[in-house]
Amino acid sequence: MHRVRTGDRDVTITIRQMTPAFAGEVSAIDTMQPLPKATVAAIEAGMDRHGVLVFRDQHLTDDAQRAFTRNFGTLEASPGGHIATASERRLPPDMQDASNLDKDQKPLARDDRRRMFNLGNRLWHSDSSYRPLPAKYSLLSGRIVVVRGGQTEFADMRAAYDTLDERTKAEIEDLVCEHSLMFSRGLLGFTEMSEAEREMFRPVRQRLVRTHPVTGRKSLFLSAHAGTIVGWPVPEARAFLRDLIEHATQPQLVYSHQWRQWDLVMWDNRQTMHRVRRFDENQVRDMRRTTVAGDAVTVAQAA
Ligand SMILES: [Fe+2]
Repeated sequence: MHRVRTGDRDVTITIRQMTPAFAGEVSAIDTMQPLPKATVAAIEAGMDRHGVLVFRDQHLTDDAQRAFTRNFGTLEASPGGHIATASERRLPPDMQDASNLDKDQKPLARDDRRRMFNLGNRLWHSDSSYRPLPAKYSLLSGRIVVVRGGQTEFADMRAAYDTLDERTKAEIEDLVCEHSLMFSRGLLGFTEMSEAEREMFRPVRQRLVRTHPVTGRKSLFLSAHAGTIVGWPVPEARAFLRDLIEHATQPQLVYSHQWRQWDLVMWDNRQTMHRVRRFDENQVRDMRRTTVAGDAVTVAQAA
């Protein structure tokens, strides 16, 4: 057990850490109700420390999920992060659809282009690392979960950085990568994109080593979306990024979340990566994400 205390008001929340290094389960918080500022600050402090927080039995509606998310910043809008057209979308524009469903609540066909695109979530990534302003938190609500598979796994990117040797740390300190949804989808052989999609998914620059604004801890900013290192030959960059992801996702650095219905899982994209595991997609899996937009770029974009 670990208690987080903030400010002058005596607010504590209880967090049970779920791995030796990170990820915690929070007890006795109702995210469906408006929360006092001090409680929100205690949750933020818990996020800074644990990187991933799990809240059980949160019977959220879309509005309640958005209201809870706004405690931590501005909601990120979904355009630019998917290939579904506005008329195909099941959720409002400030929510991300992590389900396997179409607008009629039916599982997407196996060869549906939107499903194939979404399979990119099976690769380790950090949400919105393909945006110039990458995301702060993601909050994923398990409205309908599958009983077998479909776990979300998280990797602690601070531990990934800390466990590198000093030579590698020095070598990567100032490296800058380019991230794009085209790179992550390309890894799966999904390469057919329209001109408009290519334009929307134009690569953006991100530092490879970033520093957490509150804790000052360094972490590796890796993601399947990272496809080049500025100034490096592409194959060398990709081989190295693959090595680093392999290092960062060793089992002892990973927490695997087995979903229960009405779990709310919240993670800090600035210090973790995640991926979803395979499941039977004939089953309905209704997961809805809200995202807190980042408030700082990691590096200036190319002119
Ligand atoms: Fe994600």
